Amino acid sequence: MTTNVHLTVATPDRMRELGRRLAGLLRPGDLLLLSGQLGAGKTTLTRGLGEGLGVRGAVTSPTFVIARVHPSLVAGPPLVHVDAYRLGGGLEEMEDLDLDVSLPDSVVVVEWGEGRVEELSEDRLHIVISRAEGGDGLSCDETGDVADVREVSLTGVGERWAETDLSVLIDY
Ligand SMILES: Nc1ncnc2c1ncn2[C@@H]1O[C@H](COP(=O)(O)OP(=O)(O)OP(=O)(O)O)[C@@H](O)[C@H]1O
Ligand SMILES: [Mg+2]
Repeated sequence: MTTNVHLTVATPDRMRELGRRLAGLLRPGDLLLLSGQLGAGKTTLTRGLGEGLGVRGAVTSPTFVIARVHPSLVAGPPLVHVDAYRLGGGLEEMEDLDLDVSLPDSVVVVEWGEGRVEELSEDRLHIVISRAEGGDGLSCDETGDVADVREVSLTGVGERWAETDLSVLIDY
């Protein structure tokens, strides 16, 4: 079983596509921790997750709110999208948010979550996005926007991920 994969993602559209594909592997109670510098593509990936899960409302950068709940339109789990950049206190503050949703019944995606909210679940998927090294990596996506290449690594931690084959994400 492949619990660690490394991908090269050329454009924002491809990043969304990766999110849509990853959504197909997700179950209620899953916790995803997204890391990567400002503008790495964490929200872009989460937008694809939201599309793949079939949730209501466009996923946007939760800059002015710490967390947003997107209910499912297809009787699946809601998507809880958290920006932990502003969540100084970590888990306790997360519990104080009073999200009016059961986290074990939701897919929870936390941007900047590493080192802050691991306690939410022993099982979690770490996703690290970084700008590709070497060359300028510039290309254009389908809309003509300038895009540059990102490296994405996904690492499953815990029993839940030990039984999920992440290699299906490679040929997307
Ligand atoms: N290959 C790529 N994958 C994803 N985004 C890309 C890529 N190339 C260029 N971009 C651009 O980079 C930006 C990524 O922004 P996004 O809001 O997703 O980042 P973020 O990691 O959520 O940042 P923040 O830390 O501020 O929340 C977008 O403007 C997107 O169009
Ligand atoms: Mg973001």
